[in-house]
Amino acid sequence: MNYRHIYHAGNFADVVKHAVLALAIERMKLKEAAFRVIDTHAGIGSYDLAVEAARKTGEWEGGIGRLLGPLAEPIPLAVAPLVASYLEVVASANRPGELTCYPGSPAIARQLLRPQDRLVVNELHPQDGEALRAVFARDRQTTVMELDGWIALKALLPPKERRGVILIDPPFEVAGEMERLVKALREAVKRFATGTYVLWYPIKDVAKVRRFKRALRELGLAKLLVAELSIRPDGDPAVLSGTGLAILNPPFEIERQLRVLLPFLAQRLAVAPGGGHVIEWLV
Ligand SMILES: C[S@@+](CC[C@H](N)C(=O)[O-])C[C@H]1O[C@@H](n2cnc3c(N)ncnc32)[C@H](O)[C@@H]1O
Repeated sequence: MNYRHIYHAGNFADVVKHAVLALAIERMKLKEAAFRVIDTHAGIGSYDLAVEAARKTGEWEGGIGRLLGPLAEPIPLAVAPLVASYLEVVASANRPGELTCYPGSPAIARQLLRPQDRLVVNELHPQDGEALRAVFARDRQTTVMELDGWIALKALLPPKERRGVILIDPPFEVAGEMERLVKALREAVKRFATGTYVLWYPIKDVAKVRRFKRALRELGLAKLLVAELSIRPDGDPAVLSGTGLAILNPPFEIERQLRVLLPFLAQRLAVAPGGGHVIEWLV
């Protein structure tokens, strides 16, 4: 396990993923009934952007740094409500006007929960698992697990609330992770068909992405929405040109929200002409 999220925390892919996660959680809150957020590949929950690893790549500067903090341009009025919850969580982890800390998905999800909701975060890396445990040590609404994420997913479904958002965000450091993601989703819906699943995938090798989406389509699941954003033209399979989210059972309104949010983010986060965004129903 070589992947360390600190090198990438707050980058453009995190921005898209976390903005969508926050939107999905906010939609769940429109009903009084409790829900659960399950984060199968959670990372450490909070990242110090001043440490050497984060400074070395500087990826956050091209991501969250373009939305918040001293160098960010204002957000247009039409977009602001769509990123308000997400950006409030990030801002609350920082001193006013500063950007030195980036909360990961566990911290973002946790901050958006109501007292009746629950969070389960799972992280296999022993050091990261320990860090996560420390973050949530005294939190009775959050359970920390240190299992293989694919096993955790099976063990945790269905959630007892029968309402939930499941984030599946693997590092893609081993071959076959896309196939594994498809298999995991197939198994997961057998246990919990009505959950909102948010699956992250990298856009590097476009042929691989095409195969991945074909395999997802072949699952025959109704209501599978794909949202992709590229910050540069696709081409070099060694470079992350874009970020993808496959969202099963997206909450009502998310598609409309994405049609406002993604064009803005594609423009704001672009590093070279030729990027853009895609929003499509796979089934
Ligand atoms: C992309 S990062 C997660 C980022 C986090 N979800 C966020 O948005 O802030 C992927 C994480 O998965 C962990 N990981 C790798 N293999 C795993 C496995 N088989 N099961 C669970 N976690 C794993 C890595 O240690 C890493 O922290």
